[in-house]
Amino acid sequence: MKIKFLLMLTSFVFFLNACSKDGNEAAANLETPVANAPKEVNDNGFKAKWNYVSQSKSYLLDVSTTENFAAFVPNYNAKEVTDLNEVVVGLTGGTQYYYRVRAKNETQISDYSNVISVVTTGSSGIPEDPTFLKVKTNKLANPFFVGMAVKASQLTGGSPYDIILKNEFSSISAEYEMKMDPISTASGVYNWTAADKIVTYGNSNGINVHGHALVWHNAVPAWLKDFSGTDAEFALEVKKYITAVVTHYAGKVKSWDVVNEAVDDNGSMRNTLFLNRMGPNYIKDCFQWARNAANAAGDTNLLLFYNDYATSTNMAKQDKVFSIVDDLKAGNLIDGLGFQMHNKYLTPTKAQIETDINRAVAKGLKIHVSELDIQVNPSNDISTFTNERRLAQKEKYKEMVQLYNALPAANKYALTIWGMRDNDSWIPYSTELNHTGNDWPLLYDSNFAVKSSHTGFLEGLD
Ligand code: G3I
Repeated sequence: MKIKFLLMLTSFVFFLNACSKDGNEAAANLETPVANAPKEVNDNGFKAKWNYVSQSKSYLLDVSTTENFAAFVPNYNAKEVTDLNEVVVGLTGGTQYYYRVRAKNETQISDYSNVISVVTTGSSGIPEDPTFLKVKTNKLANPFFVGMAVKASQLTGGSPYDIILKNEFSSISAEYEMKMDPISTASGVYNWTAADKIVTYGNSNGINVHGHALVWHNAVPAWLKDFSGTDAEFALEVKKYITAVVTHYAGKVKSWDVVNEAVDDNGSMRNTLFLNRMGPNYIKDCFQWARNAANAAGDTNLLLFYNDYATSTNMAKQDKVFSIVDDLKAGNLIDGLGFQMHNKYLTPTKAQIETDINRAVAKGLKIHVSELDIQVNPSNDISTFTNERRLAQKEKYKEMVQLYNALPAANKYALTIWGMRDNDSWIPYSTELNHTGNDWPLLYDSNFAVKSSHTGFLEGLD
């Protein structure tokens, strides 16, 4: 009996020791929590959320209006919370907040979690924030539109996307929904729904709308690809489409990419369905039809652009684009040139960009940096967004904005970023690029928090 008691006592002591040891060990290594995206965002608050941390008894929540937590929102400086979420209240509408948490138990407090950024809905009524891109740009002696590529589904009133768009951007381009394939479902049949939502959003929020794109070989609807009529009838179908779209949006869309990417990387005309069926004059025909439709609708201010990519690093392509421009200028058919600028953290160089855009300045064209993003991982050699690439990207955005801002006023139009959050980017899904790795190419992270690239943009305006 005695032995049994001693054995029980020993195992009990071991058990206590194990608990305290585990307890002490766990306490010693109290893990850092992971803060999650907020829920229930409204005009005066949101629900902050985070993951469970083993051995924790509570969490300390910080909420601030600055990413560095220099100042705390009253009542949210290490506010102790026992749940895995907290409804934060008493905030201002239309304002950006940041939150983070630490785990806590009797003897330990963990490190800080990641920082989550959130923008409350509604309008703040507070003066425009100088760190908003369009606010700072509009204060320039010669301002220009700050553009964003959008999808109709993102334009939900009061969403963080909607608030940031209204706060920081003065122009929008449809990333996909104003192209021929989503709009033209059959000859003479048009689905305006998504495109109308985008155009109405711009028009009702005082945001410029750039139309992208009337004719592009990668946006041909099936019915036109399979069109069995004659070449002349094919051309009439294209004319009918351009006329219908330009007329539908007359006075609502300020500019159109009439033709996109008609030049091949080898400097010859790209071998597209349009070239094959309409002949080498097809670009001029498309611009003429757009101009005629605009004028017939009374939209004599519509700006017509040609849009392409990689002309800064490919002289054969650059030369061919400018020969097309000359041809269009001869007919008074072109107003502007779109430089897509899907760039990388090392290329194109400043000198290459200057050479390219200065040729457009010399021809008196409006210049649209139309699809700016800056890949930091084109060779897939990093798996996390390193400091070195973060700073290189910041400098490259700053350089691009400085170059654009230095243009003569007459040549400025818009500088458009091709997507809002890094995870909104087209890059991982591009079959052309065939680069599925992460590239962190944009100005906001997946939580809508501004990145150093956003700071680089702002510094480029100084
Ligand atoms: O919305 C439909 C969805 O309903 C459908 O179920 C799904 C599957 O087919 O497709 C969805 O549409 C996709 C669309 O993006 C919206 O996300 C299309 O498949 C997809 O092809 C389209 O990709 C766009 C691409 O152009 C082709 O239009 C990219 O978002 C867009 O970033 C990219 O942008 C181009 C510029 O227009 C021209 N310069 C190059 C640039 C990058 O390729």
